[in-house]
Amino acid sequence: MEIPRHIAIIMDGNGRWAQRRLLPRAAGHREGAKTVRRIVEACCRLGVGWLTLYAFSTENWKRPQAEVDALMALLSRFLVAETPDMIANGICLRVIGDQERLPAGVCRNLKESCEATAGGKSLILTLALSYGGRDEIVRAARKLAAEVQAGRLAPDGISEAVFAEALDSAACPDPDLLIRTGGEQRISNFLLWQMAYGEMVFTTTLWPDFDEMDLRAACEEFSRRSRRFGRISA
Ligand code: FPP
Repeated sequence: MEIPRHIAIIMDGNGRWAQRRLLPRAAGHREGAKTVRRIVEACCRLGVGWLTLYAFSTENWKRPQAEVDALMALLSRFLVAETPDMIANGICLRVIGDQERLPAGVCRNLKESCEATAGGKSLILTLALSYGGRDEIVRAARKLAAEVQAGRLAPDGISEAVFAEALDSAACPDPDLLIRTGGEQRISNFLLWQMAYGEMVFTTTLWPDFDEMDLRAACEEFSRRSRRFGRISA
C-alpha cells in the first residue's frame, strides 16, 4: 500500500452522529475531537508526513453562536490536553486560516502549542481554523499586491511558486489525498489552490466513527489511483 505523503481531511458528520443519538450537536464535536486524536496516532504509525484537518471554516462562523462557542472551547481544551503528547510524539502543530477572527484565548493556546511543538519531526499536523480557500487566496493576493505597490516585486515576478509561498500553506507540499467523511462529495472551500491534482476519497462514515481501518481503506483506494498530473501514463 502506498502511503500518501500529505493527507487532508474534511471531518464531516459530527452533528448527524449526535442527532442519531438524540444528543446535542456539541456532543458530536466532542466525539469528533477523540477521532482527531485516534487519526493523528494512526498517521504516525503509517508514516504519513503531513496531516491537514479542516476544523472550522470561514462559513462556520454563521452557525448558531452557542455551537461556535462550544467548538472554540473544545479546541482550547484539546490544545491544552494534547500538547504534551504532541511534544512526546514529535508532532509539530501548525495553523492555517484567518486567525484574526479567532477568540483571543484560542489564539493564545494555538501560539503556545505551535511554539511548544515546533521541533516535532515525525508529523506536521496543520489545523485549518477560520479557514476558507478563497479567503486564503485573496489574502495572498493582497500580500503580493502590497509588495508590488512597495516596489519590491514586479507583476511579472508573480509565478505559481511565488503565489504558493504567499499562501498560509507556504512550505507545505500539496495534499496527495483528500478524505471527506459524512457522505457529501464536494470540496467546500478547502485547499482550493493546493488540491489542483490531489486525489479525493469520499466515505459515508461519520467523522466520530472514522477509525484506522477507514484511514487504511482510503490509502488502499489512493494506491489504486493512476496519478498522471495532466500527462499520459508511462
Ligand atoms: C463538521 O461536522 C465538523 C465541524 C464543523 C467541526 C469539526 C470539529 C471537530 C472534529 C472537533 C474539534 C476539532 C479539533 C481539532 C479538536 P458537522 O457539524 O457539519 O456535521 P453534520 O454535517 O452532521 O451536521
